[in-house]
Amino acid sequence: MTWRRHSCLPRRHSCRRSERIARFCWIFCRLLAAALLIWPLSAHDVISTKLLWTQEISRIVYRHCANCHREGGPAMSLTTYQDARPWAKAIRDEVISRRMPPWGAVKGVGEFQNDPSLSQIEIDMIVNWVEGGAPEGDPAFLPPLPNFPQPDDRRNRPSYHELAAPCTLKTAITLAGIRPQNLPAGAWMEIVATRPDGQVDRLIWLRGWRPQFAQTYHFRHPLPLPKSTRIAVYSNEPAKATLLIGR
Ligand code: HEC
Repeated sequence: MTWRRHSCLPRRHSCRRSERIARFCWIFCRLLAAALLIWPLSAHDVISTKLLWTQEISRIVYRHCANCHREGGPAMSLTTYQDARPWAKAIRDEVISRRMPPWGAVKGVGEFQNDPSLSQIEIDMIVNWVEGGAPEGDPAFLPPLPNFPQPDDRRNRPSYHELAAPCTLKTAITLAGIRPQNLPAGAWMEIVATRPDGQVDRLIWLRGWRPQFAQTYHFRHPLPLPKSTRIAVYSNEPAKATLLIGR
């Protein structure tokens, strides 16, 4: 009987060992599979930028984008890193092409105080951040969310007279802003003032219109125009404009 016990012991021992080896192999294979799965993802996320969400990028987004891109706003929220990170590549594409922030007015014609466009430096910073892996940084440096103006918040807006264009001015005015009317998607519109002495001012040029551009364009420097100035509206659509006249 003793030989059986003896022969069994080593056999049970070797059973356990092969079981352990099998389990080790199984775990090893699972880990390898997981590593292979994760590798291509993490390879994209190598951080190669010094720019951080909590430092520079959130400040740009809060100033230029969060007005619309926030909880309760007209577009998806970009106010937290968790909200913005999945959009990183789309954000880069939108700012490079200057589709965001939506504005509609061609640069170089008129200068507007409410132009939300990013400077080239800000665009470069966003591109650098996205292509460098879009790192978050230390939440301690996150700026506070700005106070967003409500759509009916007119407290800080001076009041204006309004005038429909095209028109010829019956008195001298100071032109403070322009609001396009009935401009359908894809349309263009240019508004030009011709003074009685023949001087021509291109006031605004809107191109590739999208309904979400709809707003009042406020001149950075209100423009004095003499009596008898002709305000012409050119467009590929039967569109009009409202002129805001400073009081
Ligand atoms: C005036 C409001 C407004 C502002 C300001 C604004 N956006 Fe948008 N954005 C929208 C709206 C509305 C949409 C969704 C409809 C569309 O595609 O135009 C949108 C869509 C987007 C999208 C998604 C595009 C896609 O791939 O579908 C991205 C990304 C984006 N915005 C980024 C930005 C960034 C970055 C800024 C600031 C630099 C910004 N937006 C400023 C209104 C705004």
